[in-house]
Amino acid sequence: MSELSDLDRRVLWHPFTQQAEWTPLVIAGGDGSFLIDEHGKRYIDGVSSLWCNVHGHRHPALDRALADQASKLAHSTFLGLTHEPGIRLAAALIDVAPKGLTRVFYSDSGSTAVEIALKQSFQYWQLRGRSAKQKFVRLGDAYHGDTLGAVGVGGIDLFHRVFGPLLVQSIAIPSPSGSDGAASLEQLERELSNRAYEIAALVVEPLVQGAAGMLVHPSGFLGKAAELCRHYSVHLIVDEVATGFGRTGTMFACEQEDVTPDFLCLAKGIAAGYLPLAATLSTEEIYSAFLGKRTDLRHFFHGHTFTANPLACAVGLASLDLLQRETLPNAQRQIHAMTAALSHIARLPGVRDVRQCGLMAGIELAPMEGRALGVEVCDRIRSHGVILRNLGDVVVWMPPLSISTPELQRLETATSAAIGETLG
Ligand SMILES: Cc1ncc(COP(=O)(O)O)c(C=O)c1O
Repeated sequence: MSELSDLDRRVLWHPFTQQAEWTPLVIAGGDGSFLIDEHGKRYIDGVSSLWCNVHGHRHPALDRALADQASKLAHSTFLGLTHEPGIRLAAALIDVAPKGLTRVFYSDSGSTAVEIALKQSFQYWQLRGRSAKQKFVRLGDAYHGDTLGAVGVGGIDLFHRVFGPLLVQSIAIPSPSGSDGAASLEQLERELSNRAYEIAALVVEPLVQGAAGMLVHPSGFLGKAAELCRHYSVHLIVDEVATGFGRTGTMFACEQEDVTPDFLCLAKGIAAGYLPLAATLSTEEIYSAFLGKRTDLRHFFHGHTFTANPLACAVGLASLDLLQRETLPNAQRQIHAMTAALSHIARLPGVRDVRQCGLMAGIELAPMEGRALGVEVCDRIRSHGVILRNLGDVVVWMPPLSISTPELQRLETATSAAIGETLG
């Protein structure tokens, strides 16, 4: 224990944390793929600081972009004003996004990016005179954030059960499983053919459902779901908060199935994991529905104080350039190194399944009565110089996209050791 961790215990309340059973670990620095604690111990950041770090910590190009912008302007509102980093980042996002997405609405977290898509879809249908279209369809075990609208389209009972009475109810279809997800698509088609008149949008995490435990979808599912949405005139909201910016091996996961959604939700890696920033991209057709005279009150009544923060946008712009030039090609190479490492982990006693999509992976442990094995492994692995976070019995690997092969091998060795020690 240190003076800082003592003070933390007296004054703080941490997210998703049972405070009664928690010991603080104070992080004092970062360096590439590593976090450094207050005593100087180095840990591989195996979950990219909650899935958002892209190029490692303290990248000189990003530090420079941040300092340059700070010397000009740290913040000015985007309500009624604009600024260069916000404008240039929006243009750069449109350049790399699936064709047809032409408008960027900024906010500051993954949850708000999803809330905005839900509200814009809802209002779009009102504005177009289809006022019965008020419901949302989601996948089982979906996760789209912790604000109330996002929780309403979520399906992780453990996180959200207690808030049930506060939520807008959504229509659940089972997460796709098996080789083609046919049962899930059939149910989606049934819902859409029966009640598209009252459905505004389908919300999905593309290719892989992260918080559900890295559930990888069968290939073709997203493309077929997109076709159904188009056929029945229901919006498709793709939540790339976790998968965006190279995580699955392409800039965006929906590229892999040639899908242009009506709304694309981005956050986490958008500003490289340096600062809070998010964006909801949409099409000209959606945007144009909100146009009119001021007095028509058709505009979108939503905005946050720190929407399009200039520091975050400047880092986001530098990050996008770095990603295209260096970090995405590295990630594409390291996907194979991760597959090799996971094949060793899969053979360990006590490991039930491993699942991978790009540089996202879940190692599912066979459950044991009365044990919280995921947490135990993540606690133990710290002594091996790695930070990980579990999702129930699933231990997650989500390193920075800039990670090297030797660092991945170190992650594998430490994970094997921690699993062995936990299962004893
Ligand atoms: C797919 C997805 N959507 C939304 C969110 C919420 O993002 P935030 O924590 O920035 O609100 C997350 C966070 O993990 C996520 O994985």
